[in-house]
Amino acid sequence: MPQPNSESERTRLLESTAPLERMAYFRSELELQDESMAVLAPYRETFVKYAEDYADHLYAKFDRFAQTQLMLHMESSPGRLRRSWEYWFRALWTSGLDERFINMVWRSGVLHVALGIDQRFIDLAYGYTRRYCRDMAEREVPIPELRKVLRTVDALLDFCMLLATDAFISSTQRCDTEVMMGVAHQLRNPLTVIGGNAMRIRRTKGPCTDAQEHSEAIFEEAVRLERLVKAVGTYVDILNLKPEFEICSVPQLMSETLQILRPEYPSPDFEPELALEENNALVRGDERCLRPLFLQTLRNCLEAVDKANPRLRITSRPSTATPGFLQIEIENSGPSPDPDMIEALFEPFYSTRPLGTGFGLPIARLAAKKCMGSVTLRATPHGGCYTILLALPGAAGESVFFAGE
Ligand code: HEM
Repeated sequence: MPQPNSESERTRLLESTAPLERMAYFRSELELQDESMAVLAPYRETFVKYAEDYADHLYAKFDRFAQTQLMLHMESSPGRLRRSWEYWFRALWTSGLDERFINMVWRSGVLHVALGIDQRFIDLAYGYTRRYCRDMAEREVPIPELRKVLRTVDALLDFCMLLATDAFISSTQRCDTEVMMGVAHQLRNPLTVIGGNAMRIRRTKGPCTDAQEHSEAIFEEAVRLERLVKAVGTYVDILNLKPEFEICSVPQLMSETLQILRPEYPSPDFEPELALEENNALVRGDERCLRPLFLQTLRNCLEAVDKANPRLRITSRPSTATPGFLQIEIENSGPSPDPDMIEALFEPFYSTRPLGTGFGLPIARLAAKKCMGSVTLRATPHGGCYTILLALPGAAGESVFFAGE
């Protein structure tokens, strides 16, 4: 986990801002509108007086564990952490959850990730905080008002936890994709040089057949790695994509994808059987995900197809097991996949083909997931069958607020 080892890095982190629109949505879902916040008004001043005690309480809790003791001593200047916690506690009761407060909590989440603090400690801290706040309210709030106040206190802390979780997801995902893209980028230039030189040796006419063979092997590996770099790029692009849902035609996307794959058909006269239901042709999805989803599954079927007796059949019908979803099945003739190895096929870098990148099916699964669908594979007596589930138009509404950035 990267550490903010310079003041400028820390400044950059602390300048990031929370996704305010999403936070407004969470706030309304937790019913934290001004009206429910108003029940806290008579107790604000009293609660604020606990700030110092709260910070000491939290500090004492985490000073007991070896792992967090170190974190506590990581503070940039003596006493700063306690002051940050005190400040946060005061703002919890007085800010009215304004933009400044939301950005502060979100940025603390980003900073916690950058400092390498285990997210479970943060969750635990919110647990201690909830107990502390409830005890405080029970002491200070008259019984007739207590229920309402506790409800709002819980919602406030839930909101802060959601903010911290949001910051955690955004930051860790950003770290992962930055590393992946960094490695892919670093590989690109050396690969072009290796591939180019291997090609040159291959073209050199001479008596040394060993050199020809070796250059062939180097060239093949360079090509494989180039494909891997490209696949990682596609995977990261889909990972970072924020889906925009629209109504898409499955037959149209399927036909266009098959057209792209035509050069990979087992023979020039091969034709896949397309039996897609006319009146169940539309799904709700994002074409930028559906295209790679279809491309990768169809390509996998074509690669595995029995060359002597090639068969590829694509069918669709509304799912009976999962109402509201269209079930597309892509079946091929060929060797049946080993049921024990099927899940491994969806994991990055796993491939049964010597020149495979191991990214085809992970891309397909990620693309399906981004569209709130799924893709699975099962063995059939004569080959394999992929089942893709995609939402039909008018099915349960998606919430854009849970989509990745
Ligand atoms: C209820 C849970 C927590 C809240 C609300 C919270 C809040 C904050 C805030 C507001 C900051 C200041 C961010 C800034 O400088 O803008 C901060 C910094 C920090 N937090 Fe937390 N925190 C929590 C839990 C924890 C835990 C469990 C640890 C470690 C055990 C931790 C360690 C730190 C550290 C090391 C800093 C940086 C201190 C510095 O150098 O200024 N926090 N936190």
